[in-house]
Amino acid sequence: MAPVPQGGTIAVTGSAGFIGGWTVKRLLNRGYRVRACVRDITDDSKTGFLKQMGAYQSGRLTLHTADLDNDGCFDSIFAGCHGVCHLSHVSDYDDPDYVKRVCDHIIASVNASQTITRVVVTSSIAAVISEADLQELVRRPVCYEDRYPDETNPKRSPAKGQGYSMGKVAAQRAFSDAAHQSGRWDAITCCPADNVGPIQSAHQKDMGPWQHNIEMMLLGKYFQNGAYRPWMTVDVRDTADCHIGLLESVDVHNGERYIAWSTDARNVEDICADIDRLLPEIGHATPEVTDPFPERIQAREQEFRGVWAGCELRNDRIRNLLGIEFRPLDESVRDCVESLLGVAGVVPVVRDGFTTTK
Ligand SMILES: NC(=O)c1ccc[n+]([C@@H]2O[C@H](COP(=O)([O-])OP(=O)(O)OC[C@H]3O[C@@H](n4cnc5c(N)ncnc54)[C@H](OP(=O)(O)O)[C@@H]3O)[C@@H](O)[C@H]2O)c1
Repeated sequence: MAPVPQGGTIAVTGSAGFIGGWTVKRLLNRGYRVRACVRDITDDSKTGFLKQMGAYQSGRLTLHTADLDNDGCFDSIFAGCHGVCHLSHVSDYDDPDYVKRVCDHIIASVNASQTITRVVVTSSIAAVISEADLQELVRRPVCYEDRYPDETNPKRSPAKGQGYSMGKVAAQRAFSDAAHQSGRWDAITCCPADNVGPIQSAHQKDMGPWQHNIEMMLLGKYFQNGAYRPWMTVDVRDTADCHIGLLESVDVHNGERYIAWSTDARNVEDICADIDRLLPEIGHATPEVTDPFPERIQAREQEFRGVWAGCELRNDRIRNLLGIEFRPLDESVRDCVESLLGVAGVVPVVRDGFTTTK
């Protein structure tokens, strides 16, 4: 119904996470009050980086324990908030009843707050491109906001690996339907692509897949991923800014969704080689790729790569809406690598003549 007021109070679920942590930081930088929801505020290995923010010392940032699996856990946290960024994962994407139950109780807390006017629901490009039949990407290769996976395909099931994509689409609809019924708040969905960029806390190296993959490359082992799907990337800081822009926009409407990606796409072997290209000072000993796929899938590598290469990634809508300029992937890879070394203490494999000790 309305954007959040400047400097208002925003609750962020999944605040200890990679994207959540950056959303908290950038909301604070823009002058908001933030209620950071984590599963356990006493776990300093995950929440220490939030507690070190100056705004935590002043009280502008507060931390709250909330496990999505507990009905009503957001009732007191959301009271008095103006907006919510619902960034958290859920415990199980393969159980539609569970996903619905979690959505329902978060929605009940939003309704009970009386003050929330906008919820940004974090979905994924998996809710745009994750096809049970890859040929669907040949038939509909333009990847933009109105593109949904073929939901009529009988193979679109959790058993066939589609649970995450299905859960994200279900959550989007649950929130926008509830917002429509309430008439008091709106739900806008953000679909981030593959997030690359700096981690803020050592534990985040093991979380989202992409920074973990880069960690593995630094350690000398890396894997072909996603049945030869290229990385379709966005910088994690830009994803955070997209969430904030969607909270603030006067031009969005309930039920809309926006893709957050730069439209950069790069194969995994090129990302691995990029470490040495972008940071030759490290002397990274670029490892060989390990291909974990069964032979019948390996035999189709060129076919799969061809399908993905034929996809056209579009970000017109979010760029026009927010005026955002997405960072180039090189910057994201560089900053990710430096944070893995500096924040998480990852020790890279290096070539002869280079040293890992400073
Ligand atoms: N990373 C990507 O490339 C990417 C791409 C597309 C979409 N997304 C979406 O963006 C969101 C954030 O992703 P991320 O990479 O930042 O994930 P992340 O680093 O793994 O963080 C997710 C957070 O979710 C919280 N969480 C998980 N289960 C929970 C539960 N039952 N109750 C409360 N909190 C729970 C965890 O909280 P604690 O740490 O407090 O335990 C964790 O900090 C997710 O919805 C994801 O689907 C991510």
